[in-house]
Amino acid sequence: MPLAIVILAAGQGKRMRSDLPKVLQPLAGRPLLAHVVATAQELEPSSIHVVYGHGGERVRESLSAAPVAWAHQAEQRGTGHAVAQAMPQVHDADLVLVLYGDVPLIRAETLRQLVALAGPKSVALLTTELDDPAGYGRIVRNARGQVQRIVEEKDASARIKRIREGNTGVMVVPAKLLRRWLARLRTDNAQGELYLTDIVAMAVKEKIKVAPLVDDNPADVLGVNDKAQLAEVEAVYRARQAGALLAAGVTLVDPARVDVRGALATGRDVLIDVNVVFEGNVRLGDRVRIGANCVIRDTEIGDDTEVFPNCVIDRATIGPACHIGPFARFRPSSKLARGVHIGNFVEVKNSTLGEGSKSNHLTYLGDAVVGAKVNVGAGTVTCNYDGVNKSQTHIDDGAFIGSGAMLVAPVRVGARATIGAGSVITRDTPADKLTLERSKQVTIDGWHRPTKKT
Ligand code: UD1
Ligand code: CA
Repeated sequence: MPLAIVILAAGQGKRMRSDLPKVLQPLAGRPLLAHVVATAQELEPSSIHVVYGHGGERVRESLSAAPVAWAHQAEQRGTGHAVAQAMPQVHDADLVLVLYGDVPLIRAETLRQLVALAGPKSVALLTTELDDPAGYGRIVRNARGQVQRIVEEKDASARIKRIREGNTGVMVVPAKLLRRWLARLRTDNAQGELYLTDIVAMAVKEKIKVAPLVDDNPADVLGVNDKAQLAEVEAVYRARQAGALLAAGVTLVDPARVDVRGALATGRDVLIDVNVVFEGNVRLGDRVRIGANCVIRDTEIGDDTEVFPNCVIDRATIGPACHIGPFARFRPSSKLARGVHIGNFVEVKNSTLGEGSKSNHLTYLGDAVVGAKVNVGAGTVTCNYDGVNKSQTHIDDGAFIGSGAMLVAPVRVGARATIGAGSVITRDTPADKLTLERSKQVTIDGWHRPTKKT
């Protein structure tokens, strides 16, 4: 049967105490809802429907690129009412998988197993055994272990509250039956809501099979209602990512102190020290070492390169055998060839550096095209911005830039040229020669340091 996925995301999330709608709260840098949509896409369903309400346009905008259909729920009248908002867009022949926008860690593999249990005449229900089931709907089974109904915490007697099998909220229901059952939901319960969970008892009454699947990893189905649970889910996510790195042979000095907020590809014998954050797509070659406290985003780093502590690297392509940092910063679009050294307090933006070039201290290289074997002295600035336009600085192979030089772009320093320290270079300088721009040093004879009048 074709699969339609309905994601419930209309809740306000009062307990977050935030102006940001709950489903837009970030997990690993992306909205909770984006994680659920990504998992839904892995199942290759025929359609994905997101029921939204609170934070309306903001929620839609944050996922404007996602191939989902939107259904608006103007008033939150319960999970059953929420699902009903998407049903006009769902076909009778579909199987409907219901997911929650605030349960972000659910695995596609689990969902595949669940979908396989459902059919035109059977409902599948994902449950889990909880140490502390408080807040969850409880799964009531008969003596033969067959699911009879779900009772919400607020409607539960003391006896039912002792049941530790909780409803994850995730279920698969044939659309034709779901449509009929949703129309029959009533609000005669403790919260005065239309509970989706009530369809389970309806199915049992009609002798429709209810097939439970017990997820034996409760961490995968954690729901996020407040900031404490958000942090808990972040920790589970972090641990999952770290586990994958360890399995791939990466040395993590402390698996609890590395965050992969995106995709990290690694070669052999990579070492990552503590408090490193990876964002977007990052690729590390063989024997790459990343020092403590680095943030690395959308970057590729070649074999044998070492990044020393406290670097921020954004959208760079760094060649093999480079030395980066400590305290280096890359702003977007830079490319380094083999064996480049970028040292402390050096900022590199939209620049290329050829093989073996070095800029070891206190420098700004912006819109610079630097050849091979160039040495850039401390305190050098490529003055790339005149207040309106950005211009390029070219520094050709083998040039030596003395400390404290201002290279006012557009300008070119010729191959093997030397620039004297402290020069302000405004015109192209010839190859192989020393160019300097500097007023003469004077010494004043007979000058006395002022003294205090008494
Ligand atoms: C729900 C289940 C409960 C289950 C728990 C698991 C019901 C009645 N209860 O309870 O059995 O154990 O999830 O986490 O289904 N939503 C809407 N519109 C609404 C109401 C809710 O879109 O009118 C969305 C929320 O944004 C959220 C999801 O549905 O993403 C669940 O709603 P929530 O109010 O958190 O349900 P729980 O009380 O946690
Ligand atoms: Ca919830």
